[in-house]
Amino acid sequence: MPNHSLPNSSVSLAKDHFPSDFVWGVATSAFQIEGAAKLDGKGPSIWDEFCQIPKAISDGSNGDVACDHYHLLETDLDLIEQLNVDAYRFSISWPRVRPTGAGQWNEAGLAFYDRLFDGLLKRGIKPYVTLNHWDLPAALQHQGGWANRETVERFVEYAQLIHARFGDRIASLVTHNEPWVMATLGNELGIFAPGMKDRAIAAQASHHLLLSHGLAVRALRAAGAAYPLGIALNLSPMHAVTASAEDHAKARLEDGKLLRWYMDPLFKKSYPADVWSHLGADAPTVLQGDLDLIAAPIDFLGINYYSRTIISAEQPWDAKSNGKPVTDMGWEIYPAGLTELLVRIHQDYQVPTMFVTENGAAFKDQLINNRIHDLERTDYLKQHLLAIHAAMQQGVNMGGYLVWSLLDNFEWACGYEKRFGIVHVDYQTQRRTLKDSALWYQDFLRHSSKEH
Ligand code: NOJ
Repeated sequence: MPNHSLPNSSVSLAKDHFPSDFVWGVATSAFQIEGAAKLDGKGPSIWDEFCQIPKAISDGSNGDVACDHYHLLETDLDLIEQLNVDAYRFSISWPRVRPTGAGQWNEAGLAFYDRLFDGLLKRGIKPYVTLNHWDLPAALQHQGGWANRETVERFVEYAQLIHARFGDRIASLVTHNEPWVMATLGNELGIFAPGMKDRAIAAQASHHLLLSHGLAVRALRAAGAAYPLGIALNLSPMHAVTASAEDHAKARLEDGKLLRWYMDPLFKKSYPADVWSHLGADAPTVLQGDLDLIAAPIDFLGINYYSRTIISAEQPWDAKSNGKPVTDMGWEIYPAGLTELLVRIHQDYQVPTMFVTENGAAFKDQLINNRIHDLERTDYLKQHLLAIHAAMQQGVNMGGYLVWSLLDNFEWACGYEKRFGIVHVDYQTQRRTLKDSALWYQDFLRHSSKEH
């Protein structure tokens, strides 16, 4: 038996402190890297449309070219291979393979993903697929988007098509990435696509996202999917800023909105009563049988972890101005929150296994003499791996870890100003340069016993 306990030094870390079947990888998403937004029959997504709205994206950019991954596929596949990872998590652009979300499928779009799957397998890398990483076909949004129950059916058809075409090559599948972000940031706060500001619509959208997840899982199992199925949630422990009853109550409600609103239906066939009553007349319409469908058994839960959230009943609490260490997003660097979250989910829910499907950080990188000394990012990654290890020592079953992100890319409403990649992208030349964090990860994954 390998010895999985860590040596005393708190930052010493080696790959073989983790189980030998632990999956190591890097992650991206279609809209953030592919570009080729109007090429080869791709239809517009809600993000293509949202980028047209003045001031929606802080640097005025869009996804038309992004990292031009659509054309630089082979270069990027070689990069992934160099990193010594086991898996590559990517998303399929729904409007690239079915331009209006209904009707005709687009063979040229499907052919691109054929090349991606085959290129990964040829290099011995497991394809980890996400079906929906936010780029809903715009035509479906024009009919109500996720708030329209018909979108659920379209999503199930899309899942079935992806399985029929690529099921022999998929190693793992996530239905939706961060449904809270799509529902709340996109439909209630309006800061992400589709830019709606309506809490009732957002609540209905969240229910339909969950329902379409459950129905897609059922349909994929019926079609004989042999690979693990799951969903990826953005989770963050909510810590009250003081011991006051008000701060605690607010933290509890925020925890309900982010975590329990998704975890309870997925694993307990119910919506949390406190959030439901908080929504009042904005609570979603839930048809009989929906909660059974949502709770279709899954094989893993994906967790995207970046930071904790500190909650004050009075006003939004800012980590930076309160002297906390933060990344370029202003998000507090708080690895202990990951251990806390994993242990809590393990205790509160019957989750078979968990993956950290995203973890990483944006920093102000500087390219000097073709090197990027992003020590802060390497340290961030190491600290979070130690946090995962600590959770595993407490009995939590973990399947793998995927760094966000392979490449600097289109960081949604922040455009290209925030860089999350372990590989730097020069957007003028599309040249890729491995940052020191990528060199560290590559080395960490190459050796099984060397400590880092
Ligand atoms: C979560 C999202 O899934 C991803 O698209 C985004 O770039 C990262 N978080 C960083 O914000």
